[in-house]
Amino acid sequence: MKKINDNIINIGVADFKTDLFEGQYRIPNGICYNSYLVLDDYVTVFDTVDKKFTTEWMETLEKSLNGRQPDYLVLQHMEPDHAGSISGFLTKYPNVQIVANTKSFALIARFNKNLPEFNKKVVADGETLCTGTHTFKFIFAPMVHWPEVMVSYEIYSKTLFSADAFGTFGVCEDNEKITPANWADEACRYYIGIVGKYGSQVQTLIKKLAPLEIDTICSLHGPHLSGDLSGYIELYDSWSSNRAEKEGVVIAYASAYGNTETAVEMLAENLSANGCGDVKVFDLARCDMSKAIAEAFRYPNVVLASITYNSGIFPVMTEFINGLTERNFQNKTVGIIENGSWGPIAGKVMTSMLERCKNITYAQNKVTVNSAVDDTAVTAISALADELCG
Ligand code: FEO
Repeated sequence: MKKINDNIINIGVADFKTDLFEGQYRIPNGICYNSYLVLDDYVTVFDTVDKKFTTEWMETLEKSLNGRQPDYLVLQHMEPDHAGSISGFLTKYPNVQIVANTKSFALIARFNKNLPEFNKKVVADGETLCTGTHTFKFIFAPMVHWPEVMVSYEIYSKTLFSADAFGTFGVCEDNEKITPANWADEACRYYIGIVGKYGSQVQTLIKKLAPLEIDTICSLHGPHLSGDLSGYIELYDSWSSNRAEKEGVVIAYASAYGNTETAVEMLAENLSANGCGDVKVFDLARCDMSKAIAEAFRYPNVVLASITYNSGIFPVMTEFINGLTERNFQNKTVGIIENGSWGPIAGKVMTSMLERCKNITYAQNKVTVNSAVDDTAVTAISALADELCG
């Protein structure tokens, strides 16, 4: 339980049990499923939590209610990490009114097959709900990250309940220490992994929110954000518009016997010596793939380095490139390092996989390693570094 202000309390839960969020993202520092209680003449709850935590959440809710009863349960997003405890909530509070849009009500029925009848309040985009001092304006945000998503702006406290937007992995114990700089890495991994395909829809939401005066952002994951929010919003704007956030090069590689790795290490040394900004190197067989994919979206230059394998490329490089293309990778300069002992075609395969990506410029200095790095490869690596830093 964490107070946002005198009337708004985060009654969400911290999940340290799940190994892979959504079945695929590593969460070594856990994840929060936030839920908010807004105390007023009428009592409102924003979203539930994953069903693994229904009991814990309901206990916190009851304690925070201090003898009162909830009047409204607002459902902003129907993904089970937030909507998994609707049934438990309605069992205890059958008279509550569920506030959601038409698409959410359709999904409630699909996820909860035997739910008894309950009170519904269907809201439209832009509709408001007054609970006394507080007035909530519901703003539809389709595909940020499911079609039914809406966010809610509370006019009196200038609080944005932002659903998945501005969410992050990790459990934060000390909200006061959050800054855009220490929030960005995991928030970007979360954003690119989960919402990244829908950048244009996030841009639409950012434009809808622009006229609002926002003091606090209460996401469904991670810490609430307050103070000067411009840094967080600028990061979201750059990620969702495929604009490079910072200078530098991401090198993602797949190496079987260390020779491609040697070429990558040489390139990284050259880039660093040239003062080319950050140089981020990912061994795709061993790194957190979601981290490598997210970082590739943050920088203007990405180098793909792979051996030729089974007349194609190494499987982890296929996974990496697919992770880029399914999230609309674009606006990049891409360098290629290929390795092969009798028929090096990795470069051709990697390039063809990026064919549908918009605005990709290939570095002219492609590096071909024939089994192991030789003088020709050293010269090509140096030329690639010079070109990327030019
Ligand atoms: Fe955190 Fe899209 O659910």
